[in-house]
Parts: sequence; C-alpha cells; structure tokens
Amino acid sequence: MSGAWGAAGPGARAGGAAGGGSGGAGARAGGAAGARARGAVTEQQQRQRQGLPGSFHRCFSAMCRLEMFPMAELQEWLQNNGDSTLLQEILQQTVLHPLCNKYPPSVKYRRRFLSELIKKHELTSSEPLDQLYDALGEVLNAEESETCHKNYLLPSKEYVTLTENVAIISGGTTGLVTWEAALYFAEWAMENPEVFHGRTVLELGSGIGFTGITICKTCSPKRYMFSDCHPGVLQQLRKNILSNGLLLDSCAWSLLGPEADVEGSVEPAGGRTLNVAALGLDWEEVSREQIAQLQADVIVATDIVYDPEVVFCLISVLEKLLIHASEGTGRHPVMYVASTIRNPETYHLFKTELDKVAIKHQVIKSPTTKVFPYNRSTKIELLRLHHEK
Ligand SMILES: C[S@@+](CC[C@H](N)C(=O)[O-])C[C@H]1O[C@@H](n2cnc3c(N)ncnc32)[C@H](O)[C@@H]1O
Repeated sequence: MSGAWGAAGPGARAGGAAGGGSGGAGARAGGAAGARARGAVTEQQQRQRQGLPGSFHRCFSAMCRLEMFPMAELQEWLQNNGDSTLLQEILQQTVLHPLCNKYPPSVKYRRRFLSELIKKHELTSSEPLDQLYDALGEVLNAEESETCHKNYLLPSKEYVTLTENVAIISGGTTGLVTWEAALYFAEWAMENPEVFHGRTVLELGSGIGFTGITICKTCSPKRYMFSDCHPGVLQQLRKNILSNGLLLDSCAWSLLGPEADVEGSVEPAGGRTLNVAALGLDWEEVSREQIAQLQADVIVATDIVYDPEVVFCLISVLEKLLIHASEGTGRHPVMYVASTIRNPETYHLFKTELDKVAIKHQVIKSPTTKVFPYNRSTKIELLRLHHEK
C-alpha cells in the first residue's frame, strides 16, 4: 500500500470538475457482480483493509494526487465485502478528520476526492451513504480560496502543517508551494540527523519552509536560518514557522529592511534551545561581509537550480558561503543541494560552474525510508558541496 502513495506528488494539483460523480449503471452492475463473488476474507486482505484509513489520511492531509491513493485496494475491498464501514472510517480520517477540518486542503481538491469516494461507493450494492453526500454538499457550498493547507505526518506522529498557494506560480514566484525536492531532502535529513545536530544551518531559497521546519522538528540544529528574497514568500514562511510552534520574535540582520527578517528561539522537546531566523537574502545582492556574519556550518537548498539565469548568481553566493566566509576561521562549511532535474543542460551548467570555482560536488545516495507521499519517479539528485584548497 505504501507503494500506492509513493507514486505521485503532493506538489501536484488535483484540478478537475467538482460534483457528485457517478459510477453509472455499469458500475452498479459491477458492484452486483462483486457482491456475488464475495467470499471469506483472507488474513492478508484484512491486514490491507486495516491500513487503508491511515494511508488515505496521509495522502489526503498532504493533498496528494488522487492517483496516489490506494483506490484500487479500496475498490477491491468494497466489491468483495459490500459494507460501508470502511468508507465511513476513511471519511473520518480525511474530510471529517479534526486536523483536516482545522487546516483543510483546497475546496476543489475536497470536491474531487469526495466525488471519487462516491464513485467507489456506487460500485457496491449497498445503500447510499448519507455522510458522503452530506460532506460533498458542504464542500460544494464552500468558497474557493487562493490558499490551502497541507499536513505532513512525521514518524514521531507530529505534523508539519503548511499554508500554501493553490497555484504553482503566483505573485511572480515559485516559492509559495512545496516542491518535491524539499520532501526528498527532508527524508534524507531525517535519516542523517547528525549532519544538523548542534550546527548552525542556513537554508537558501526556503520558500514556505517545509524542509527547514522538518529539520528543526527532527534534527536538533543549534540555529536554523531560513532565507528567501521574495517578500510574499517571506511573509508566508514566517506564518508557517510560527504555526508549527517555532518562535520568531525579534528583528535581526536585514537586507530587505527591518521587516524582512525576524528571529527568535524555542525550547524544543529535547530541552536544548533552538534559535530560528527568517532572513531576507537575495543571492544577487548579498555581500561577502553579510554572508560571513551568518557563520553557517551547514547550508541547505532544495529546488533552486531551475533556471540558467540564476545559476551564475547562485554560484557567486556559494563562493561567498563555502570559500570566502571561512577564510582564516578554520571552519569548513558544507552544503547540500537537492535538485529536481527538469532540464539536464541547466543542471550540467550548474556543475560546470562549480568546477570552475573549485567547489567540489559529490552525489549523495538517496534516502531509503519513505515518509512523505510524493512522486518517486521524478529524477531528484542530492549533491554535497565543499571547497577543497
Ligand atoms: C522552486 S522554489 C523552491 C522552494 C523550496 N526550497 C522548495 O523546494 O519547496 C525556488 C525558491 O528560490 C527563491 N529564489 C529565487 N531566486 C532567488 C534569489 N535571487 N535570492 C533568493 N532566493 C531566491 C524563490 O523565492 C523560491 O522560494
């Protein structure tokens, strides 16, 4: 079943029509045939059935594409067993779940999801399930919004909850949604917490904060500095940091004016103080001196190598971070960059430019534990960068 939600991405939008949805007469006939074929439930089927509400919860709360849900397993169970208890449980774990009520996925997404459940229910020969139609009725009356919520379940059973934009690009930025490389890198970080433990971490192009919030919650850094250049992104980033229980409470180092940066600290469960900052940092403008002040031990970035035009200013910032900032200090900062390789030429350009400035890059093995639901067929590569004299 985990394979089912490992096959598509939460960054993907549901799109598509709202409405009641119907499996039609053919589907009903299929339901009757299914009912005729009902037999004893095997232990394996029972185990699979028990896992379904949890899988639906993970996928729904993170707004995964519907193809990622274990719909085939649901359909098989419904056709073989007919009763609607499983659908009721799924409803409780998704649309009616208290977390999804407080931080709901987009209206469009909820409509599509409920329509799909209704189609599945119509494949059975059982009575219509009022709760499904009531829930759909409520969503059909709900107003669309520019934002939606995604809730990512951590192995500790804590959630990372984000407010995101429903559109992939809005306000001239790609930073208002979470990209797959962020989910990939967060999984890697959780497998390698020692890289961040007790360190000062700087993130470039944080977007709305998924990677950093996950690292703060799971890897015990000493200080975590989120950064981005876009004012709207910084605003949403700060809200997300706060709503995940990480405190930002005073002004700090600024490139975009005093409102651009905030920092604060929070006592995590482990007892050590974690210092958190959200900085306005534009790769095109940041100076050597400003970078040196940050004293970052570890630099992270996800999905920032997507445009040949930004490669050159990115390289210049990496030189400042990995070469100039450590001169004469004895420090040896390292950087981890996770990139979705959409355009191999752009990615090749990035690596070639790194070679030119003597920044070594080494490909790091992918994470092996599947924690977050996203499209695992996307080509994502993680590089470790450092300067070698
Ligand atoms: C594709 S988004 C990735 C966001 C996030 N890291 C993720 O993976 O979900 C690229 C991010 O880089 C930021 N960015 C682009 N150019 C930048 C620049 N010159 N200086 C700082 N940040 C920049 C954008 O604002 C955006 O948040």
